[in-house]
Amino acid sequence: MIIKEATFISSNTTVAKCPETELPEYAFIGRSNVGKSSLINMLTNRSKLAKTSSFPGKTQLINHFKINDNWFLVDLPGYGWAKVSKESRDKWQKMIKAYLQQRKNLACVFLLIDSRHEPQQSDLEFIQLLGTLGVPFVLVFTKTDKQSLNKTQEAVAAYKKKLLETWEELPQMFLTSSEEKKGRDEILDFIESVNTE
Ligand code: GTP
Ligand code: MG
Repeated sequence: MIIKEATFISSNTTVAKCPETELPEYAFIGRSNVGKSSLINMLTNRSKLAKTSSFPGKTQLINHFKINDNWFLVDLPGYGWAKVSKESRDKWQKMIKAYLQQRKNLACVFLLIDSRHEPQQSDLEFIQLLGTLGVPFVLVFTKTDKQSLNKTQEAVAAYKKKLLETWEELPQMFLTSSEEKKGRDEILDFIESVNTE
């Protein structure tokens, strides 16, 4: 898929205020600093579309970007550790949950996982939440440029093993590096296939 247009639409504090639309949307979710905003910029080829930072807790609102005038990308705050108060973290957690429960046009969640880490409790819990809510999702292993392919494959294998303890089927998985633009075609092709289902 070719991205002809990528436009920032709005930042909102609650799902009720998000744009009214029937166009499909794809949300990027994961721990703070995992690389959600960077991945959105990499996919859209716009280096400053979504705000990124080396400090966790950069994205604090529900951000909508309209792509090619026929679907949306959504950048969300991270969960887990962030240099913000517990109060803010709890607020984001609630906001994300409400978004997942209420957003009718949500086509799929991209759950981002740092490829350098062992399976983390907060990510596993989030996967369970998606399962409970019945939200379609795929896993994206980020920052693969930071280590060897071997190490990344080990991390993916560890995840698969962990997930198979509770799930019968594994979700689709992508390996990405926003630095090296790795995984871009695969993710855009996937979105196109869901859009045309
Ligand atoms: P929050 O909005 O705080 O939840 O973070 P985020 O998940 O949106 O992360 P963001 O995209 O802001 O990236 C966090 C840091 O990781 C930044 O310093 C990025 O430059 C860096 N980063 C993101 N993706 C990659 C990647 O693929 N490779 C490398 N080497 N660094 C990355
Ligand atoms: Mg962000």
